[in-house]
Amino acid sequence: MTVSSAPGKVYLFGEHAVVYGEPAVPCAIERRARVTVERRDDDRVRVNADDLSLDGFTVAWGGEGDDAPELDVPTNLLEAAMGYIDGAVAQARDAADAPDAGLDITVESDIPLGAGLGSSAAVVVAGIDAATRELGAAIADEALAERAFQVEHEVQDGQASPADTFCSTMGGAVRVQGEDRRRIDDVGSLPFVVGYDGGAGDTGELVAGVRDLRDRHVFAADTVEAIGDLVREGETLLRGEDTPLDELGGLMNFNHGLLSALGVSARSLDSMVWAARESGAYGAKLTGAGGGGCIVALDDSEGSKTALDYTPGCEEAFRAELDTDGVRRES
Ligand code: PMV
Repeated sequence: MTVSSAPGKVYLFGEHAVVYGEPAVPCAIERRARVTVERRDDDRVRVNADDLSLDGFTVAWGGEGDDAPELDVPTNLLEAAMGYIDGAVAQARDAADAPDAGLDITVESDIPLGAGLGSSAAVVVAGIDAATRELGAAIADEALAERAFQVEHEVQDGQASPADTFCSTMGGAVRVQGEDRRRIDDVGSLPFVVGYDGGAGDTGELVAGVRDLRDRHVFAADTVEAIGDLVREGETLLRGEDTPLDELGGLMNFNHGLLSALGVSARSLDSMVWAARESGAYGAKLTGAGGGGCIVALDDSEGSKTALDYTPGCEEAFRAELDTDGVRRES
């Protein structure tokens, strides 16, 4: 039996602008998906995923006929996760050169699904890693990140960015700019608090909206560039000896304002952002595509978590510090 886990993520800075070649800084958070894999004697794949039980995870299962797994949970929930797990199994069989290997797979996750926190990336990274190792092969982090990205890319019809899978594999704060993806070393503690409105925006539509604004207005293109400038400044702060949380928070606030100007915030996100700021957070912003979903605040006190718990429209609030570990080979 082999167990791997991998973290979810938030964007400290730079979503949307990253689509136009600016840098972004996603950060792994201390919320993980764990995948347990045990080889079977036959060529079947059996999946148990009782935890994957939130709405909004809408990806079709890509298996067919004899290749379809036996299901231990209600079909609609499982169908959602199956495309990812199916892809992870295919990658692991390929990496281990064991095309007919049968596997029993158990998925557990503390990351809300479909909320822009990288839940699918974490499941895919942990799944490929555990399955490949269970089949007797080793897999290096770079290759794992690349294989996980391929799965997301396929399942999400070519829409996935490599940020989630790279961040989940490597852990910590990472810098993504085009093909250039790297870890930012020696980042101090980042006390994140996440607020979740229970919904999700349509990433494709939101990205298209920003593209349209940017094509039509020079000031919108300038806004995207301003986000890039802000990310470069934020990165410098992260690399310093003592992370100045107040300055980082100020940049997060600025980043939220620019994203809002680009039309990707929402009333629920703004109200969670303000609840966090007014209760003492260093800063707060939406994270991911926007339109609904999650905000991330920087706060080392209990203030914003408590305020978010009482904010109408906030369905869940939790503390999730920066996780410096990426994929973890648990056993
Ligand atoms: O909502 P998420 O976590 O999938 O992030 C989307 C980030 C965007 O920059 C808006 C799109 C992308 O692919 O980079």
